[in-house]
Amino acid sequence: MSATANRQILLAEKPTGRLTPAHFRMIEGATPEPGDGEVLLRVRYISLDAANRAWMQGATYRSAVEANSVMAGGGVAEVIATKAPGLAVGDIVFGDTGWQDYAAVPARHLTKLPKVEPMTHLLSVYGIAGLTAYFGLLEIGKPRIGDTVVVSAAAGSVGSMVGQIAKIKGCRVVGIAGGRDKCQWLTSELGFDAAVDYKDGALFKTLKAAAPDGIDVYFDNVGGEVLEACLPQMKNYGRIACCGAISQYDGAPSPHGPRGLPGLIVVKRLVMQGFIVTDFMDRRDQAIADLRGWVAAGRLKVQEDIIDGLENTPQALIGLLAGENRGKRMIKV
Ligand SMILES: NC(=O)c1ccc[n+]([C@@H]2O[C@H](COP(=O)([O-])OP(=O)(O)OC[C@H]3O[C@@H](n4cnc5c(N)ncnc54)[C@H](OP(=O)(O)O)[C@@H]3O)[C@@H](O)[C@H]2O)c1
Repeated sequence: MSATANRQILLAEKPTGRLTPAHFRMIEGATPEPGDGEVLLRVRYISLDAANRAWMQGATYRSAVEANSVMAGGGVAEVIATKAPGLAVGDIVFGDTGWQDYAAVPARHLTKLPKVEPMTHLLSVYGIAGLTAYFGLLEIGKPRIGDTVVVSAAAGSVGSMVGQIAKIKGCRVVGIAGGRDKCQWLTSELGFDAAVDYKDGALFKTLKAAAPDGIDVYFDNVGGEVLEACLPQMKNYGRIACCGAISQYDGAPSPHGPRGLPGLIVVKRLVMQGFIVTDFMDRRDQAIADLRGWVAAGRLKVQEDIIDGLENTPQALIGLLAGENRGKRMIKV
């Protein structure tokens, strides 16, 4: 790559079924010039998120990613030129940098970040993943000491932190994840009380065995069949924090939603509430202070899965959707 070339990964075609490398194309363009109010960023780490795939399906809490545009994605980046007051060369920021080496971005769309070592923690525990786990569990799930908390995609970036925060809050924690190795890791390394392999064909039964008295809080990252298995096992007045629906993102959507709704919600007096992490950003400083304290005290383990090379971003996302990752997956650009 020449000094000023900008490698960019485009979404070449919108997927209708499962995402494949053929849906992406890498091009090399010139490094952009920042306009008034913009900064030029050198992207350092790109966040890989299950939601990247959902953005290809249509507008969500953000506009859809269209074919032949640079693939959208959050990233941590360094300011290398500035035409915006408030941001200086050398500042570290978070924003939608897209899958590319350099981006010219309006300063008002960026969040200035503190200098943290390692920098990768700005995408994992102190980034969207950690904040989603923190606010989704504490504000929507409202766990109380002694509650049984169940979390799906438990070995992923959000899920692994939800379970650990629930333990810190004095709960009994059950993780649902794909495969024996991940389940073993949740109990032996992250301190979960039990883990259930949703791929072993007996989810309802194994969940019942892991949470025999029922579920007070279900933190739902996946929707679909896992949600369907949890619903009848909720205790009266239980809370379901709807964080995402990974099972619906890649490939043809399921022909039916979870059965038993809304009857189970009525009979069990459940509260089922969705949330978007950005709703809570006015309280970000308090959340980061708590997360930093738990990390420093060794109570919250940060698992990162860092893959080298912008060119590997499409395959890394495809792998995340297939369950390759443990903890926060990201690309070192
Ligand atoms: N509401 C918000 O503001 C907000 C913000 C950030 C993220 N999120 C949501 O948080 C969730 C976690 O996202 P993430 O980016 O952190 O990804 P992640 O949990 O790090 O990785 C995704 C994991 O999902 C699991 N998975 C894939 N297909 C599945 C299926 N059909 N059924 C069950 N599990 C499946 C895989 O693990 P297994 O091996 O266990 O299958 C995979 O490792 C997503 O739903 C995302 O949309 C929401």
